[in-house]
Amino acid sequence: MSRMAAGQPHRLRFTLNGSTIERACEPRRLLSDFIRHEVGATGTHVGCEHGVCGACTVTIDGQPARACLTLALQAEGCEVCTVENLAGKESRLGVLQQAFRKHHALQCGFCTAGILMSLDSLFAQRPDATEDEIRDLLTGHLCRCTGYAPIVRAALEAASELRIKLKDETANA
Ligand code: FES
Ligand code: FES
Repeated sequence: MSRMAAGQPHRLRFTLNGSTIERACEPRRLLSDFIRHEVGATGTHVGCEHGVCGACTVTIDGQPARACLTLALQAEGCEVCTVENLAGKESRLGVLQQAFRKHHALQCGFCTAGILMSLDSLFAQRPDATEDEIRDLLTGHLCRCTGYAPIVRAALEAASELRIKLKDETANA
């Protein structure tokens, strides 16, 4: 393949927060840049751009992923979710977001979107996640404002609310 052909834009199609996105994309474009600059979904933040800070975390097919380490073309055919997806249909804050607000678990908020996406994915897979597991997850996210204690409190409260919700849904099914 010539160098010219290798750099040609490709057609990219994936689902972002439930909506189909289809447009041309250069092979070297990062998913974080594509989401923010091509689609305009700026809730996903970009900090270190080399996989350390966790600010850019999104979920791809339910799994947390560093969008700054993912080429946009790798999302072909996948379901990508960002922090914009956490609010309910009436644009009300989701359970995790409400808990973060209640416990002052953010200050500048730069790290928050990534932390919310990692926690959302953890609770979807492990509704019984323990405090140790939550703390372990937070080791993958840098927050220079909060000292982490309010984040842990918010996460524990959200986890317990989500468990109650899940129980109610199961009982009413
Ligand atoms: S911007 Fe992706 S991990 Fe820091
Ligand atoms: S709230 Fe500022 S970096 Fe976490």
